[in-house]
Amino acid sequence: MGFSSLTALAQELGALEMAEPVHLSVFTTGAAQVRSEALPYPEKSTVAGPCGVIPREFPMLTCATIDIELPPPPSFLASLRGDQAPEITSRLLKEMLAEPGNTIAAWRGDMRFEKSWRSLAVPAASPETSSAASTGTSTGANTGASSAAKPDLAGFKHGGTYLITGGYGGIGLSTAAPFMQHFNANVVLLSREGLPARDSWERYVASHSPANRIAQRIRAVRALEALGCGKILPLTGDVCNSAEMRAAVDQAETTFGALSGVIHGAGVIEDGPILAQTRGADCPGSRPQSHRVAGAGRAVPGWHAGSHAAVLIFLDCYPARRTDRLCRSQ
Ligand SMILES: NC(=O)c1ccc[n+]([C@@H]2O[C@H](COP(=O)([O-])OP(=O)(O)OC[C@H]3O[C@@H](n4cnc5c(N)ncnc54)[C@H](OP(=O)(O)O)[C@@H]3O)[C@@H](O)[C@H]2O)c1
Repeated sequence: MGFSSLTALAQELGALEMAEPVHLSVFTTGAAQVRSEALPYPEKSTVAGPCGVIPREFPMLTCATIDIELPPPPSFLASLRGDQAPEITSRLLKEMLAEPGNTIAAWRGDMRFEKSWRSLAVPAASPETSSAASTGTSTGANTGASSAAKPDLAGFKHGGTYLITGGYGGIGLSTAAPFMQHFNANVVLLSREGLPARDSWERYVASHSPANRIAQRIRAVRALEALGCGKILPLTGDVCNSAEMRAAVDQAETTFGALSGVIHGAGVIEDGPILAQTRGADCPGSRPQSHRVAGAGRAVPGWHAGSHAAVLIFLDCYPARRTDRLCRSQ
């Protein structure tokens, strides 16, 4: 089952007055990654969104996901000998007849893997972290400059250029500050509404209320620039529009040189329970996050709200597919 059919099924089951608990076993192929193997269909991973949420919202439902590996068909010579592909039906039946639970499992060959969690100790806060966390910013802008402890960000380039989509959001501004402070990086902040021309900022801020969205953005950019390291380029563009994104990348590279990385922080959250979800023509919650990351079509089409978990899982899985491709091409 896919994301939409599973969500619709949960809505129908949830609307029934069920006397007995119901268990759903959701089988997929190529939708989960075991260790560092290829993840050929990251868009299929979106079923994990409703599978994770359904048991929490519907006490009578349990939901297990099982990613299976289809056995390869016998070679031409083997088929001439009458060889058959290995039989996996009994394995699937065993999964379906198992004690109902909200398990996440994957079969690879004869091996069964089941996802589990283990706790990790949170490292004690260093004096630098504690004092930075307790210091507010004088501008009131959410630049994240207050949490100035050097983060463990191996792999980021000193003096590099980073494009941050959703650049004026909580995530965008909090990400921009450490890039500038610790990596002396140039930061490109991109959002749909953007900012007016720089030479009008002074007048704009003076003539608008402190609560004005654009005035807040201008103050946030100024607070970042006041850090004294790296430069900021504010750009306008919609991540769902590939022409606008191409133009933004061109402009960023013309200004600062090649991009060192892109932080995808654009998004609109519209959350709610599965029973309240509707299937609309558009999905602001998932659109920015999944659409142009994939570059082709929708990973989660048209569902409001509950797609959030699915989109985030997709975003985790998509780089796994790309990583595998890069590894194979080397
Ligand atoms: N905050 C959290 O703790 C948290 C945790 C996990 C995940 N997230 C996810 O991270 C994303 C950002 O969260 P946030 O808290 O930073 O949100 P936010 O404060 O509401 O900011 C969203 C930013 O994205 C921009 N934006 C929205 N749609 C866009 C589009 N199509 N193209 C370009 N820019 C767009 C907005 O500016 P314009 O309106 O001008 O475009 C704004 O700058 C959300 O999708 C959220 O689900 C957030």
